[in-house]
Amino acid sequence: MQNDQELCLGTDLAGKTIILGVTGSIAAYKAAEIASSLVKMGADVHVIMTEAACRLVGSATFRALTRNPVLLDVFDEPQSGEIAHVALPEKADLMLIAPATANIIGKIANGIADDMLTTAALVARCPVLIAPAMNSRMYTNAVVIGNMDRLKNLGWNFIEPGAGWLACGEEGVGRLADLSTIVSAVVAVLHGGKKDYVGIKLLVTAGPTREPVDPVRFVSNYSSGKMGYAIAEAAAERGGIVTMVSGPTDLPDPPGVNVIRVQTAKEMLDAVIDNLLPADIIISAAAVADYRPVEKADQKLKKEQGWLRLELERTEDILRRIGEMKGSKILIGFAAETENIEENARRKLLEKNLDLVVANDVSEPGGAFGSDTNIVTLIPREGEPQNWPRMSKREIAHAILDYVITHLWEAPI
Ligand SMILES: Cc1cc2nc3c(=O)[nH]c(=O)nc-3n(C[C@H](O)[C@H](O)[C@H](O)COP(=O)(O)O)c2cc1C
Repeated sequence: MQNDQELCLGTDLAGKTIILGVTGSIAAYKAAEIASSLVKMGADVHVIMTEAACRLVGSATFRALTRNPVLLDVFDEPQSGEIAHVALPEKADLMLIAPATANIIGKIANGIADDMLTTAALVARCPVLIAPAMNSRMYTNAVVIGNMDRLKNLGWNFIEPGAGWLACGEEGVGRLADLSTIVSAVVAVLHGGKKDYVGIKLLVTAGPTREPVDPVRFVSNYSSGKMGYAIAEAAAERGGIVTMVSGPTDLPDPPGVNVIRVQTAKEMLDAVIDNLLPADIIISAAAVADYRPVEKADQKLKKEQGWLRLELERTEDILRRIGEMKGSKILIGFAAETENIEENARRKLLEKNLDLVVANDVSEPGGAFGSDTNIVTLIPREGEPQNWPRMSKREIAHAILDYVITHLWEAPI
């Protein structure tokens, strides 16, 4: 767990009322740290525990940390005359369920309200953040995935769990996201600033693609996916309904984003086409491999003396295909160039029917693949190019979204 300095606890949550739902996961003890951090940041924290959570940690801990009564039963009435499961969610700015069991997710996804937490969750109209924690076989069970997808599609936000050693002694995905990730997600939702993308549907592509040579080798590029992930995350923070098609990356799913993971350019094209229709804005930040081996060997190619010749063919030109199909949708592409940046990017804009191209010089230090910063030039179809200084990818993501909403977006009448 991180200490207070690392968490920047100075961030102000004063005046914010947060419901913290704690469920019967082995990670329930970590909720005490979460409660404590939110209180130190000034929030008025009200804890609701399930019966199973109470068997793992004591409610007195949360009562002491938050200096508020802990709600356990739907018939609890700490304020006489007030129905707590209605009154509390009504005054809450945010509800965080951390850790969230498979059980609680399943119950909420199916509208079951049989205890204080599920009832309050279904009453809540404030943003709800769910941080799942469970054994990896539970987390990857199609039933659990279906329940999470259902909630995500209805606009509930998830803080994706991490991978690693689990309390059950297994390795895998399902470990409660770390404290700083959870607290940052809370801050992002409460201080998300602008909510100017509410109701707007965005389709974002990110990361590289991998084109297999044989079962153990592939052709790819150095893209980390950080730029696309930053855009998807920023758009979701601003209220957008975001689907991201991502090639293979090491990055966790951004909160509140529906992520579709693919490997090859063909799979990315198929996923993009499947999700294109509802999208209002498409931001194509993926670095799609331009070539793939003509044939994929079924078995691992053996090391031989001398040359191995690979015959490569062009992959699908995803951006061009979107450009042909886009109609009135807004289409934004990225151009990673090493020379004649503006000229090459403008050609791409016209050839692929883009509304805006974000050009970056990948030969510049701090402008390269994998870096947390980037130096970009914005080239709109109409209007002057904008050269931006070196900024973090998160800042660039927000600045691109600012530009799009001010200069390109026209709200449907
Ligand atoms: C020691 C222990 C640890 C558990 N850890 C988890 C867990 O991390 N995630 C989970 O989904 N269920 C876990 N369970 C199972 C839940 O406690 C069980 O499904 C319970 O019905 C959840 O109730 P709740 O969702 O109302 O809190 C655990 C059970 C025990 C006994």
